[in-house]
Amino acid sequence: MISRSSKETEKIAKEFLIGLTPLKNKATVVGLYGELGTGKTTFTKSVAKILGIKSKVNSPTYVIMKSYKLKGKSYKNLFHIDAYRLKNEKELLHLGWNEIIENKEHLVFIEWPENVIKALPKKHHQIHITHTKEGHRKFRIKKV
Ligand SMILES: Nc1ncnc2c1ncn2[C@@H]1O[C@H](COP(=O)(O)OP(=O)(O)OP(=O)(O)O)[C@@H](O)[C@H]1O
Ligand SMILES: [Mg+2]
Repeated sequence: MISRSSKETEKIAKEFLIGLTPLKNKATVVGLYGELGTGKTTFTKSVAKILGIKSKVNSPTYVIMKSYKLKGKSYKNLFHIDAYRLKNEKELLHLGWNEIIENKEHLVFIEWPENVIKALPKKHHQIHITHTKEGHRKFRIKKV
């Protein structure tokens, strides 16, 4: 799927969220894979907007993690994590990662999952974004 703008990314996010069903006893974790500036934060912002979050969703590069309360039926909390500045899993564990991923009411989006790959559940959805020659973005989605 090709996205030429944040607007088109929002369409892709909408489709992704349709049919995303909570796991029975674990959080739903989504890894956003892709080089600098491919649009990982843009995708997460779209998700937040679609799920009804009114407050501004900024990149959590410096704070590492942000969480938002959701009003929907499927999930009660959205977590947005940017692992760019993390050297390894340890720092993620200090943020209460294990509690976060134990809760089936949690929906977790994580940028730069490669940096903390050992801490990610094996069953996590993957979204791979790459730059195209034309300056657009290509999305490849692997749902579990
Ligand atoms: N589909 C798209 N088409 C064109 N430009 C886009 C698209 N998606 C995002 N952008 C632009 O690319 C820039 C980087 O986007 P974004 O911050 O979402 O990337 P990122 O993958 O989160 O980067 P980082 O690795 O720094 O966290 C922004 O200026 C954004 O508006
Ligand atoms: Mg980002």
